Amino acid sequence: MNRRQFLASSAAIGCLPRFAVAASPTFRLKAEEITGQILPEGDGTTRMLGFNGSVPGPQIRVRKGERVRVDVENGLDEGTAVHWHGIRLENSMDGVPVLTQNLIDPGNTKTYSFVAPDAGTFWYHSHYISHEQVARGLMGPLIIEDDAPIDVDHDITAVLADWRMERDGALIEEYADRHSVAHAGLLGTFARAFFSQGEVKTGDRIRLRLINSATNRIFPIAVTGASGKIVALDGMPLTKPRDFEQIMMAPAQRVDLILDVAAEVKLDMMNRQGPYELGAIAASGTNEHRHRTPIAALPAHAIGVPPKPGQHLTLRMMGGAMGGRHGGDNIWAFNDVSDLQPNPFGSFQQGETARITLINDTSFPHGIHLHGHHFYEVGADGSIGDLRDTTLVNARDSRDILCTFDNLGKWMLHCHMLSHAVGGMRTWVEVT
Ligand code: C2O
Ligand code: CU
Repeated sequence: MNRRQFLASSAAIGCLPRFAVAASPTFRLKAEEITGQILPEGDGTTRMLGFNGSVPGPQIRVRKGERVRVDVENGLDEGTAVHWHGIRLENSMDGVPVLTQNLIDPGNTKTYSFVAPDAGTFWYHSHYISHEQVARGLMGPLIIEDDAPIDVDHDITAVLADWRMERDGALIEEYADRHSVAHAGLLGTFARAFFSQGEVKTGDRIRLRLINSATNRIFPIAVTGASGKIVALDGMPLTKPRDFEQIMMAPAQRVDLILDVAAEVKLDMMNRQGPYELGAIAASGTNEHRHRTPIAALPAHAIGVPPKPGQHLTLRMMGGAMGGRHGGDNIWAFNDVSDLQPNPFGSFQQGETARITLINDTSFPHGIHLHGHHFYEVGADGSIGDLRDTTLVNARDSRDILCTFDNLGKWMLHCHMLSHAVGGMRTWVEVT
């Protein structure tokens, strides 16, 4: 080996680790005041919050198992923090002020870095005075890709949201009025879907990733112009694709569909007053090449059915309008306690499985979200149901969940109707 070759090979070896680091995708999100186009073009703009100038914030797409770095810069005149909803990440990156991090002060930047262990549809949003910051626009989609692409012509994200605004697009800057907090939460006067892509061809097979980013609204959704199946819930693939008519989505929930396009694909919210159009993907031209094979399941997730649980805990939702008295000192409570307390609601050894009975003793539905984990819903007959990170429990109803607490740290457990969370319906668990 002559000296020249030696230098060359040594240089190449020296570079390897740097290439490996560079391969880890880095993103930058700046939280700031923006002017958004929420109403149809021409109908007035909205002074609100966003990331990098847009609402929803930019779509972050990374591979499963890959380290992600996101530098979050706070361009607001108040604190903020970003939560990566549904990702089973390290506790210190979960984005919950006080519990897992300090606030990002105005002008400061915090680097979040994590490895997403599951492919699927997730999202990110502010977790500081979130009933207000999310309502003003601090949210965006987070897509974790599987190793191999699935057989579709387009992979489209639809972020659903609503805003309480005037007809000219101005936000009504009142986020925690007692009436909304004590009832169904702050509901918008205008709702829509934002699509990552606005046009497809007739005959295309598409994956449509629905994300409910609304602070309080449950969306009952009808899809027209295409037919297909539900293939994932809250990011996690179903073992068997499922037929659907209406799709019920609590705040923070996600539903992935695989659809065969027959015409313009329209999403309607099915109100009591009739359908309300959230948005549509135009269909122009025809895809002649698509083979209509049966819709297959997505590659399976890695979360096994939990073993027999050790602890069995009960979480009773209390309070609100027409909800009766409780012992907490806010409008809502879990087990007679409002808001975050010094002691956790549950303490688990890492790897321990617990059963939690969620009892809704109130007059409103609640979408209960656990951070850092997914859990199985349990049917009334004891059967193991869907794997979720947010579960909708109807008024005066109850649901059991089974969770293996395998992620160390302090994790929030709260209602994702963010008006209810600020009204007291939040607690936390600890895994040690
Ligand atoms: Cu998506 Cu604690 O939240
Ligand atoms: Cu609630």
